[in-house]
Amino acid sequence: MRIYRAKDYDAMSRKAANIISAQVLIKPDCVLGLATGSTPIGTYRELVERYHQGDLDFSETTTVNLDEYKGLPRDNGQSYYYFMDQHLFSKVNINKDRTFLPDGMESDSDVACQKYNDIIHSVGGIDLQLLGLGHNGHIGFNEPGSTYEKETHCITLSERTIQANMRFFASEKDVPRQAYTMGVKTIMSARKILILVSGEDKADIVKTAFFGPVTPQVPASILQLHNDVVLIADEAALSKCPNIPQA
Ligand code: GLP
Repeated sequence: MRIYRAKDYDAMSRKAANIISAQVLIKPDCVLGLATGSTPIGTYRELVERYHQGDLDFSETTTVNLDEYKGLPRDNGQSYYYFMDQHLFSKVNINKDRTFLPDGMESDSDVACQKYNDIIHSVGGIDLQLLGLGHNGHIGFNEPGSTYEKETHCITLSERTIQANMRFFASEKDVPRQAYTMGVKTIMSARKILILVSGEDKADIVKTAFFGPVTPQVPASILQLHNDVVLIADEAALSKCPNIPQA
């Protein structure tokens, strides 16, 4: 695992955009695995800016997102489709027919997950998967205790995740209790992984996930075993880790 220490959130976002830009430049028809949450918003902002400057072209790129809430339609302001459209898809020249998320409105979980796995396989797998990190070590919506063997599946959100995501909803009862998420197996099959972490509130989990033992109780810890992972974290997130020089 290569670890970059960034001065702050903006520096982290620029470095992440550099890596994603490089991927798109080297392989314009690449498959990007994308993430939601507050962490990657700055990265998407940077990518949009580079697109407007004429430095990036997404016309041949395919995207597959990590996860989607079960039961939220695409036009719901809290759906992950809506998030992606707002922060990236509507702002660059990506072909929307090549942007994929699990179908939150498919009520049959087996059907929804099978369809999504088929999509990921049919596009040839993921070249670069972007990840954020949950406070409990979740990646996508793979909560503590998740098996490493699953591809896309339906999960029940942990109480901690419901609390963490409540800030985006009118009230706690509006937070969906279930979601479809790529499994750890899908994520680990990506050829490259880029994980971003920002803020002091993530300092404990960064230390546990990347400097502690690999265990299903901390889903992100499995990334230690992937052969091409870049972690970009800001100083606050790395404040409890061994000294990593700033890059
Ligand atoms: C959600 C998403 C994750 C994301 C995590 C962290 O639960 N499903 O993919 O990484 O939150 O979010 P944030 O970046 O807002 O801390």
